[in-house]
Amino acid sequence: MSNYKRTLITSALPYANGPVHIGHLAGVYVPADIYARYLRLKGEEVVFVGGSDEHGVPITLKARNEGITPQDVVDKYHAIIKDSFSRLGISFDIYSRTSSPVHYETASDFFRKLYDTGKFVEKTSEQYYDEENKQFLADRYIVGTCPKCGFDRAYGDQCESCGTSLSPTELINPRSMLSGNTPVLKETKHWYLPLDQYESWLKEWILEGHTEWKPNVYGQCKSWIDSGLMPRAVTRDLDWGVPVPIDNAEGKVLYVWFDAPIGYISATRELTPEWEKYWKDPETRMLHFIGKDNIVFHCIIFPAMLRAEGTYILPENVPANEFLNLEGDKISTSRNWAVWLHEYLDEFPGKEDVLKYVLTANAPETKDNDFTWKDFQARNNNELVAILGNFVNRAMVLTEKYFKGVVPDRINPTENDLETLASIGRIKTEIEKSLDSFRFREALKNAMDMARLGNKYLADEEPWKVIKTDPDRVKTILNVCLQVTANLTIALEPFLPFSMDKLRHFLNMERLDWQDLGSTEIMVSGTRLNHSHLLFEKIEDAVIEKQIAKLLQTKKDNEKALAVAQPAKANISYDQFDAMDVRAGTVLEAERVPKTKKLLKLKIDTGIDQRTVVSGIAEYYTPEEMIGKQVCILVNLEPKPLKGIESQGMILCAQDADGGLVLVSPVVKVKNGSEVK
Ligand code: 2FM
Ligand code: ZN
Repeated sequence: MSNYKRTLITSALPYANGPVHIGHLAGVYVPADIYARYLRLKGEEVVFVGGSDEHGVPITLKARNEGITPQDVVDKYHAIIKDSFSRLGISFDIYSRTSSPVHYETASDFFRKLYDTGKFVEKTSEQYYDEENKQFLADRYIVGTCPKCGFDRAYGDQCESCGTSLSPTELINPRSMLSGNTPVLKETKHWYLPLDQYESWLKEWILEGHTEWKPNVYGQCKSWIDSGLMPRAVTRDLDWGVPVPIDNAEGKVLYVWFDAPIGYISATRELTPEWEKYWKDPETRMLHFIGKDNIVFHCIIFPAMLRAEGTYILPENVPANEFLNLEGDKISTSRNWAVWLHEYLDEFPGKEDVLKYVLTANAPETKDNDFTWKDFQARNNNELVAILGNFVNRAMVLTEKYFKGVVPDRINPTENDLETLASIGRIKTEIEKSLDSFRFREALKNAMDMARLGNKYLADEEPWKVIKTDPDRVKTILNVCLQVTANLTIALEPFLPFSMDKLRHFLNMERLDWQDLGSTEIMVSGTRLNHSHLLFEKIEDAVIEKQIAKLLQTKKDNEKALAVAQPAKANISYDQFDAMDVRAGTVLEAERVPKTKKLLKLKIDTGIDQRTVVSGIAEYYTPEEMIGKQVCILVNLEPKPLKGIESQGMILCAQDADGGLVLVSPVVKVKNGSEVK
């Protein structure tokens, strides 16, 4: 649709069971925000909606694990997410949530309309039921042995060890996560959206009608449609969600993927009484910004729901992104393998635009990409500082120095001056082409070309040399530089809004429209510029090393959590056990064994005697820490010389999963010499 009156931008509603991370940002919110800002700058009518997705089983599981209610969980994370988006400058017109009353009403009405007009099929099937807790079990509430790999904690919908998608009845030895009991199969009734009936329409609408969609999106749709669509249940037996709004449906709620996309409608309703023009007028262009795991829901299921309802428009495009990895590994909330937005904002104050820049320059638009802290540093230092910041700074500082900060005249421009100014218009066309086809990383590169143009112009013209011979010529050179700088404030506004605010302030100029981009008369001669400072600052190695160290620690923690205990050694007899004489003893003296890293020499009061033990714990305990500690010591181990010291026994330690040693000592002090058995 090339002629439209307005645009409705939706961005996937993040689950309110954790904070948002760079993967969410790169995939969805940063590109959606750039696009919304671009359209607003062009003076178009646009509404940009977002909100938290507050239903679904993972939220109930998290609540259960933490001993709080699902409402507590979503209240906590909704607040964190909303605040961090606002600090980053994601310019939602509304950021709502699916536990809002408006949403309950909208989702219920939507369901009832489909129900009343016979758009669902009712089906009874057998599902696992926990008899002790008297409730049906969501797939995630059932664990058992994976039939593919034998992992004994596979979920009813997926084995996290081998990645296979499962259905609960495929699990070997299924157990309820609520009671630990074996669940029983019991009949339950649900409502299904018969997607099979929409197959030929979807073929026509997407496969023939939207060949312009991104290849990753179109390809996924084609493979879903080609492999045959099946009816999809839109209700669940669960006590958290929007209750199924019809009689005889107690204990049933709408499936989270039925209510969540309706959340876009609810958010628009909450925003404006005129919401229907965004949802029902064919002259509205609706765009869904999502990640690739959401494609089927936004391209097939939600459109089928909208079509079944009958009065809504359909998405015009779904510019879904692929995934962003972190330092070579898949981002994961449960493994804490992420750069969390709220933490970034706390640790990098004033660098909101830097994150947006890096995530756009390296956006996973056509394939999965990797975020690394080294790349983050390099893009900041070599691009934002060295290209953009450097050009702007030189234009400002030279004007200050030679003309007391007043915009000089442009007199008798040369061919290079005119060519440079004309390039601005050409770059504008390139940026537009890229943005109009959702190629954000290319658009950013195009916009940065304007700063490159400025740097090249300065290098060619060398005003710092010319000033000695022809000051009038320098006036013209700096006038050209300032026109380029002023144009940058428009070209980069969708990408770097905080920085462009600053830059406009330096230039003492108003915010202009996209239409003004390309003008060579923005900076009027005689205008006094404001004092400027650096637009971007270098990020030092130490800052990056700290972030890398944080991730390494996470990796270690994860390995520790995943480590499995060694199998038991061969059995020994009771007599063999009884032969070992372990006593409680107190460390009296401790010192490092010279020229070793690992060894401490300890003097221990064993209750029987005072003796010397050499122990390999120096990497984990200092001598000072050891003095006064009560330990367990094997006193009848044959003495052994170690580094020239006779060690008369061994103190007991637990070896942690990362190899670290932790002393084993009585939990309360006992008399030295007490037997440990
Ligand atoms: O994948 C997710 O994080 C979902 N919460 C996205 C929902 S998008 C929309 F349908 F609400
Ligand atoms: Zn498996």
